[in-house]
Amino acid sequence: MTVTTTTKHGAIAVIRVDNPPVNAISQAVRQGLEDAVSAIEADTEVKAAVILCAGRTFMAGADISELGKPPLPPHLNDLTDTIERCSKPLVAAIHGQALGGGLEIALSCSHRVAVPGTRFGLPEVNLGFVPGAGGTQRLPRLIGVEPALNMAVEGKPVGTEAALSTGLIDQIVDDLEPDAIEFARKIVAQGQTARKLNQAIAPDSFSHDLFDQWRAKCAKRKRGLDAPLAVIDAIEAATGTDVDAGKATERALSLKLRKSPQSKALRHIFAAERASAKIEGVDPSVARQIVSVGVIGAGTMGAGIAQFFATNGISVTLVEISAEAAATGIDRIRENLSQSVKRGKLTQGRAAEILPLVHPTTDYADLADVDLVIEAAVELLEVKKEIFARLDKACKPSAILATNTSYLDVSTIANATDRPDQVAGLHFFSPAHVMKLVEIVRTDQVAPWVLATLAQMMKKLGKTGVIAGNCHGFIGNRMYQSYQKAAGLLLLETGSPEIVDQALRNFGMAMGPFQVLDLSGIDVGYLMRKSLPGDRVHPYAFKVHDALVEAGRKGRKSGAGFYSYSPDGAATDQMVLDLIADTARDYGVTPGKLSEEQIASRCMEALAQEGLAILDEGVAARPGDIDVVFVNGYGFPRHRGGPDFLQRQ
Ligand code: COA
Repeated sequence: MTVTTTTKHGAIAVIRVDNPPVNAISQAVRQGLEDAVSAIEADTEVKAAVILCAGRTFMAGADISELGKPPLPPHLNDLTDTIERCSKPLVAAIHGQALGGGLEIALSCSHRVAVPGTRFGLPEVNLGFVPGAGGTQRLPRLIGVEPALNMAVEGKPVGTEAALSTGLIDQIVDDLEPDAIEFARKIVAQGQTARKLNQAIAPDSFSHDLFDQWRAKCAKRKRGLDAPLAVIDAIEAATGTDVDAGKATERALSLKLRKSPQSKALRHIFAAERASAKIEGVDPSVARQIVSVGVIGAGTMGAGIAQFFATNGISVTLVEISAEAAATGIDRIRENLSQSVKRGKLTQGRAAEILPLVHPTTDYADLADVDLVIEAAVELLEVKKEIFARLDKACKPSAILATNTSYLDVSTIANATDRPDQVAGLHFFSPAHVMKLVEIVRTDQVAPWVLATLAQMMKKLGKTGVIAGNCHGFIGNRMYQSYQKAAGLLLLETGSPEIVDQALRNFGMAMGPFQVLDLSGIDVGYLMRKSLPGDRVHPYAFKVHDALVEAGRKGRKSGAGFYSYSPDGAATDQMVLDLIADTARDYGVTPGKLSEEQIASRCMEALAQEGLAILDEGVAARPGDIDVVFVNGYGFPRHRGGPDFLQRQ
């Protein structure tokens, strides 16, 4: 298939790239562009050209599927040099996204125009490598060193207005193709020649301390990641006097990092996240629209879920047992929103639009017209069954009913209704308006259209949905329980929560296991274990946990758990160390010295074992789903690819 075509509009040529879905820069695209630009250079009738893309977006980057393979010519860096060398003006006409190699191609053109709503970025850092086709060299020359560091080290795209104000684009246009042709005609008429970003940066145009400041920032905020530091090195190289040496440094860093374990892991998780949205055996076209939502329960989870939908412009009916409880839920959302405004994550204006979309009520009759209800009430099976029986009567026949349970049997809940095929689990993670992960729990009875609807809705609203089988704890909590069991045994062996927590933080987990328990409440697991048959709970891995809860130390909310909390922060407590030592003695565990690597590897081994069982039982459809769950819901370091990926290396 031809992926590039050239048409002529008088003296202006239009080179169109058409490589669905996102115009990734495959070998065929590189070859097509190289040939098209050479033809334009040779064509005496053509005075300038526009490069644009068909479909939903400008080129969204190098073809990720080619990155692990030996590079095929023409290489992207040679192509961008060819484009830059072209003696005629070339205008990149951009819509959708110009990301990675796409932005590098645009930067090698002499001019750039874009329609409103376009995003521009160098996200390579998120895939563990450095742009390799001049992105880190041309971007600082065009927009300045600090804005370039901001874009390339953070890997976060900027919008059209920001692009115009920094000079990244020359003009915002309305009707892309005709306006870009008109723009090209104008620059030809004005006698403008092709502008090139190949001159050295003036040494007094930026602060030379910037690079070390950014390295220090990365040491704190991007702990253990190689690519952000390499991007800083590449941009620093762009500020030298030898332009070619800067490019060579960038290229060497890019090629080296592409082969790195971190990049391999990050590319794996990128692909796994996209694969997880696909449901085996379910035709995506059977999905239906969700326009309005009901939420049962306005506690932390319910309020967070309501806030999430309202933030996405979806009307929410929030049901509580009393007007006071409903008002408390609304206060929770108001408080969350005001925190987001304070932290600069939301404007006051946006926050003011969100709250009116949440309608508190105590009457199930108000749910008569909603398309989806999510129950987030107390984690007790009998209560949930009662709620679902009521929902079945109150909601229209086409409504989907979902439960946010973390570990209860979704089929039993579904069977409390006359529509078990329209009941599924939707397990959000706390805080629900922030955490990306949602487990979509598939029972034996659930209808394909229900799963397709929930999966597509989650993707559209920016969540990462993973289909999980219906078992105790589904994918995430079931595996996390094994991890916590390993951590509980290590607690007895090492004698201290801090030793275990530190080892796992240094491995890259966002928090240590005992910090997590203190934050979420040790009593949650305590109650869950009480609900399990005795033989399902390890005889002593959780004994310290249970003793702490029984002593009133439930975690942060009670001022103490594995650690003691004061306004000065968390501290290790002798009482806890004594309790651990006594418990170890009681159960014949000999304390010993374990290295951080041994501690982390014991926990990873436990995760991997449970992961294999989960795959065997079909609770997760693919190994990558396990990784997606852990990276997006449990603070597992993304650059290690997830517990299953790690174990397979
Ligand atoms: N190379 C190859 N395939 C790519 C790709 C790339 N650079 N970027 C996206 N795709 C594929 C996805 O795998 C997905 O394939 P699928 O439909 O078979 O699952 C499809 O394009 C759509 O991507 P998706 O992410 O589901 O669509 P979206 O509209 O939500 O987001 C992007 C589009 C471009 C913003 C997003 O895909 C993205 O961030 N891509 C990576 C960009 C990047 O990092 N570029 C630099 C690489 S050098």
